[in-house]
Amino acid sequence: MPSEAYDDCWLRYEPVGDEHHDSYRTRCANVYASVGSPELSAVRDELRRGISGLLGREPHLWQHPPRSAAGFLAVGTPEEMAMIADSVSIDRVAALDDGGFRIRSVEWEGADCVVVTASTDRGLVYGTFHLLRLMTNGCPIDDLDVTEEPANHERVIDHWDNPFRRSVERGYAGPSIFDWERLPNLRERYVDYARLLASVGINGVVFNNVNTKIPDRASANEFVSGKAGWQLLTEDGLERVAALASVFRRYGVRPYLSVNYAAPMLIDDYDTADPLDPDVEEWWERKAEEVYDAIPDFGGFLVKADSEGQNGPYDYGRTHAEGANLLARALAPHGGRVWWRAFVYADHDDRAVQAYETFEPLNGEFHDNVTLQVKNGPVDFQPREPVSTLFGAMDETDLACELQVTQEYTGQGVHTCYLVPQWKEVLDFDTHVGGEGSPTKNVFSGSEGAGIAGVGVVGEDPTWTGNYLSQANLYGFGRLAWNPDLDTETITDEWVRGTFGGDPAVVDTISGILHDSWPATIDYETGGLGLIHMMYNGEARLENHYDPSPAAWPGYHGTSEDGIGIDRTSGGSGYVDQYYELVAEIYDDPETCPEELLLFFHHLPWEYELTDGTTVVQRLYDNCFSGVEMVRDLRERWRALADTVDDRRYRHVAERLDEQVVQAERWRDTLVAFFYEHSGIPDEHGRVPLAEPNRVVPPRED
Ligand code: GCU
Repeated sequence: MPSEAYDDCWLRYEPVGDEHHDSYRTRCANVYASVGSPELSAVRDELRRGISGLLGREPHLWQHPPRSAAGFLAVGTPEEMAMIADSVSIDRVAALDDGGFRIRSVEWEGADCVVVTASTDRGLVYGTFHLLRLMTNGCPIDDLDVTEEPANHERVIDHWDNPFRRSVERGYAGPSIFDWERLPNLRERYVDYARLLASVGINGVVFNNVNTKIPDRASANEFVSGKAGWQLLTEDGLERVAALASVFRRYGVRPYLSVNYAAPMLIDDYDTADPLDPDVEEWWERKAEEVYDAIPDFGGFLVKADSEGQNGPYDYGRTHAEGANLLARALAPHGGRVWWRAFVYADHDDRAVQAYETFEPLNGEFHDNVTLQVKNGPVDFQPREPVSTLFGAMDETDLACELQVTQEYTGQGVHTCYLVPQWKEVLDFDTHVGGEGSPTKNVFSGSEGAGIAGVGVVGEDPTWTGNYLSQANLYGFGRLAWNPDLDTETITDEWVRGTFGGDPAVVDTISGILHDSWPATIDYETGGLGLIHMMYNGEARLENHYDPSPAAWPGYHGTSEDGIGIDRTSGGSGYVDQYYELVAEIYDDPETCPEELLLFFHHLPWEYELTDGTTVVQRLYDNCFSGVEMVRDLRERWRALADTVDDRRYRHVAERLDEQVVQAERWRDTLVAFFYEHSGIPDEHGRVPLAEPNRVVPPRED
């Protein structure tokens, strides 16, 4: 049983309570479901598994309406099932976007039924998972009338997994689940991963790291086997990808690959990868044909170009539009898409301005099948950043928002840090581009080529995510990508119920812990006023981003004797002017700039007074201390669950929270000592300078 080897996450399908048992049994113990496609076989498997778990007995599966039953569940399209055509408006179903579905409770020839229908088989997969989620959450199903369509067309998870070595860049849950050496042999775990993704509506997966070529800084240990990501584009590689794709196809998840921009040189010894070279153009056309011969539903290529050692069009003096369009032309005849990352470095002193300076002038120059994939903030997945300026600037370009599900900068596989509130902040941010009420989320919805991408989090660890509570981030990512209007509380509640059951005390406690965890992390890791990059980096071998080391990054937080923060105002680096005017005005003035981003935009004296009269340095001290207090409190709240959560998961999380307390103290002590060293101003409450010698431990060597 796979579930003994690894966790079922939110698909545990524990027996339902008495309240709804009878009605669930009447309507779902008999299942009349369409057959014929890979997706429909996945639907039947899931219903067998889900209903067995929830009702304690296997459902009867039928290929015609079970007329003798008091009720049944019908899953199919109106075209294929007359009973469904009788029960819903065919036109309404036909009008649903790909992936959309309807669920209705109906009476049909005297039987009490639930109908799950859609215009595509992929929609039936999502509808099935949705119904099972409703039942898992203990919702009544006698009066259902649900219509859902995905807000975002593309909802993709990007693996930073290094093929053949099975390491995962910024992965904290063990080796990659993708075993390329053994592919095309398949593993049950691929099926279970595809189920997890589809259950929250994710419809694309990039199997390999954006760093497809040995980056200098990782050369020591990452790619020793001599095979790197770009080798997936060979005949041998594509055979393996095709096998993996066959599993994900059943769940409506399209496969993508990260490719290296210099692939013609790496694979076929070309002496150039210049996007304007006809031989290079022809190479990509041929390669696209090979890919689609092997994988007809292939989604496209993801590219990290001219960034951190990866090749790109700059190598040939070409623009990123010229670079991306080359691949787009090759993919277009096959319906494929290029996802081109906006994460580039160039010469600017302030990295925050870079992406906009590079890409805004190219607005409108990308082909229709190019999506520009932009990190949520202008720098790099810090605990809190303002929203990227590109989201308000590229009206003639399909954009995707890239979020980081793996917790590179927020405690990795150890700390509890629930990121849904962070993502909601990003998606609800008002760009003001189309006047007031123009939230970022509107930029990605509605257009075929736009969407949301998340940097993946899973690995071979039995927990999948390294920490049971981090599963909530994968769940929340998918749910928000499907519907960014869902509120945090709804998502959290669903996840806790599916994962830990419906005991109200458990639901309240775990939801509360998750809710308070991100603000706590911001406080102890940054001081809560918009500072970034307070973490340790170091030499390649030791690079970890887990420990504190603000002294390593003076250029990112602007600490000096006279004050702290980076001047990104009009008079400073000018970053603020990349926002729409009304937003820029608010950020430009320290009096109106929201406190939580103050030092991202302003370099201020240590004793600058905040609205309530507290000085900057005092607020930094206070926040660092309160962040630790909050983590202690989270640990206490978790401890109260000792008798209600199963032992394995209870102890696993408890151990991590113990470590989080220690690590949060380490962050606090390092940060406050650093602030004191530069400001020379003691804490009003006598906590700083620290009574004990600074307890900073050397960075870990693992
Ligand atoms: C961060 C991260 C790298 C990653 C890069 C990216 O810098 O530390 O490991 O490669 O982002 O997004 O490409």
